Amino acid sequence: MLIHRQTDIAPSEITPPRHWRDRRALVQAAVAAGLLGAAGQAAARNTSSQKLTAKQSPLSTMERATPYELVTSYCNFYEFGTEKADPARTAPARLRTRPWQVAVDGEVRRPRTFDVDDLLKLAPLEERIYRLRCVEAWSAVVPWIGYPLAELIRHVEPTGNAKFVEFTTLADPQQMPGLPSRVLDWPYVEGLRMDEARHPLTLLTFGLYGEVLPSQNGAPLRVVVPWKYGFKSAKSLVRIRFVERQPVNSWHKSAPKEYGFYSNVNPNVDHPRWSQASERRLGDDGLFNRRRPTLMFNGYGDQVAALYAGMDLKRWF
Ligand code: MTE
Repeated sequence: MLIHRQTDIAPSEITPPRHWRDRRALVQAAVAAGLLGAAGQAAARNTSSQKLTAKQSPLSTMERATPYELVTSYCNFYEFGTEKADPARTAPARLRTRPWQVAVDGEVRRPRTFDVDDLLKLAPLEERIYRLRCVEAWSAVVPWIGYPLAELIRHVEPTGNAKFVEFTTLADPQQMPGLPSRVLDWPYVEGLRMDEARHPLTLLTFGLYGEVLPSQNGAPLRVVVPWKYGFKSAKSLVRIRFVERQPVNSWHKSAPKEYGFYSNVNPNVDHPRWSQASERRLGDDGLFNRRRPTLMFNGYGDQVAALYAGMDLKRWF
């Protein structure tokens, strides 16, 4: 299974991994030289000291990774505020990521509450460079580190009644200053159909850019589902429950006409308030700003289209 078509990507779009691996040294030099703006400096401060090693996955895109400073400073994590800079500003000091437990239960033969450090060791870590397309029509390319959620699913042995997986994330008013806003009905809940959850692209994610996840990106663990809008990729998971009925995901609950359950990236189905036909890649601003056409299933159609064979994707948006 090969997901990248190298011929589609201009050489200028490709960055060899060692370039962003040397990022920490570059950032430190930039800070010393006074070259970083406020957001970049905040991201630099949030740099985790903990490295994660992982083998390269052939499922990675060849596209150039978005600068680390943008991915870690322009975030959606409403529990820490609704402005893009809020999570990077508040989450690193407020979110306690150890000890951390994740309940894996519901329709499984071997329910278990995992310590996150045990979960981290359940399967070999891989580095997967994925496109992430946010429903707000911006996108990024991120080198995530994790392993397929399918590994955990196999471990807990779902019963025949398990048709969906429900993800619940932390909602602690002591740590999360955004909770009083009631912008969503907390805790943040997301869900996948079992075949989506078992798909080899669905990643249980513990890190990015060679280090553990920064708090603002969903430490200590999140899910990443690259062919769906970013809001399916729930951050700071505390429960993974196997259920018979389709979970009610938070965004659908808050605005059912705007957000469905499936949330597959689809340039042919507009959001009621804006077009989904194109996107802005983080880091493309300024002189070379250009919008890119959004690809069906975020470009992962060869791998995932069969999951939806026969479904009317305008109806099941
Ligand atoms: N998970 C939680 N718990 N809370 C959130 O507000 N925002 C989602 C998703 N996961 C969100 C969340 C949205 S809208 C997006 S686009 C992605 O996280 C953004 O991930 P990033 O900030 O790491 O790029």
